[in-house]
Amino acid sequence: MSTLSLPSVVVIGAGTMGHGIAQVAAVAGHAVTLVDASPAALERAVAKVGQSLDKLVEKGKLGAEAAAGARARLGVAAGVEDAVAGAGIVVEAIPENLEWKKALFARVDAAAPSGALLGTNTSSLSIGAIAAAVRDPSRVIGLHFFNPVPLMSLLEVVVHDAVSDDARARALAFGAGLGKECIVVRDLPGFATSRLGVALGMEAIRMVEDGVASAEDIDKAMVLGYRHPVGPLRLTDMVGLDVRLAIGEHLAATLGNPAFTPPRLMREMVAAGQLGQKSGQGFYLW
Ligand code: CAA
Ligand code: NAD
Repeated sequence: MSTLSLPSVVVIGAGTMGHGIAQVAAVAGHAVTLVDASPAALERAVAKVGQSLDKLVEKGKLGAEAAAGARARLGVAAGVEDAVAGAGIVVEAIPENLEWKKALFARVDAAAPSGALLGTNTSSLSIGAIAAAVRDPSRVIGLHFFNPVPLMSLLEVVVHDAVSDDARARALAFGAGLGKECIVVRDLPGFATSRLGVALGMEAIRMVEDGVASAEDIDKAMVLGYRHPVGPLRLTDMVGLDVRLAIGEHLAATLGNPAFTPPRLMREMVAAGQLGQKSGQGFYLW
């Protein structure tokens, strides 16, 4: 696969989402640099990409050569400024905290080429507020991927009022090149996905608190009764309780809807380090 015509991609934040976004971009032929403030996170991310590529090859979903090519195209770096200096597309995937994201975008803005497309993988935060941290907000756009990125076909492209037609077109072309089906959504809290998905997740946790049924049976209710691929509590474990807590707090505050207020049990679990799959324990043992 030729990489000559494809923009180079820098993914910042190598956690649950960043490693998957870097992987699919590398598989699609982009030269990719994955950046994280934590060297340990980078090491874990590279190992997870390797395991995922192996699994896709084992299942016949990816050729061995394509996987080898993706590995060769993926590099890592600890420093944001050096990594973005030659970037065509930057995708931010650091934690769901507006101030952290704004601070990072200001740094990226100062160091990246002026023509680079700047995407954020935020689940719920205002793209316009993040874009306000850079000199030219028209090049900032929401690129909301889904977990696990290599298996999930949706890319939610979130457009704020000041985004340019060029940025929107480049975001859609990038998504299509990664094999994703894109939807375009207005920049309102929680977009089209988190606003619905998190409402279900929060209510499921309140149902555990109320003793309606066990976590396993509440999940089974939605898997067998509604044909969801996984139940809302297992999904909360997969996403990360800390991630969903931050989204819930933001949606409760911005939409003024108490349905999004994180339940007491969720706060207690996060305080105890029970973050779900990534910490080994949440509603399930992983
Ligand atoms: N790469 C490669 N393989 C992977 C993988 C990855 N990243 N993650 C899991 N797999 C593998 C598993 O190892 C497993 O392999 P085996 O069959 O060999 O055990 C396989 O995929 C799972 O296969 P299944 O047959 O069980 O399931 P499936 O392929 O039919 O579907 C799924 C898997 C697509 C993840 C499905 O379980 C699903 O749709 N889950 C719900 C995911 C979801 O809702 N995601 C959205 C979360 S919310 C979000 O992302 C937004 C936000 O802002 C928080
Ligand atoms: P995570 O906690 O798994 O990973 C975040 C990574 O960012 C960590 O490795 C951390 O070391 C790194 N980091 C923090 N600050 C940094 C900085 N300034 N510079 C470089 N690296 C930094 O988080 P995640 O679950 O991957 O979520 C990332 C973003 O994606 C959030 O906005 C979240 O809402 C969104 N999102 C998450 C999911 C999900 O299922 N977890 C799905 C879609 C979108």
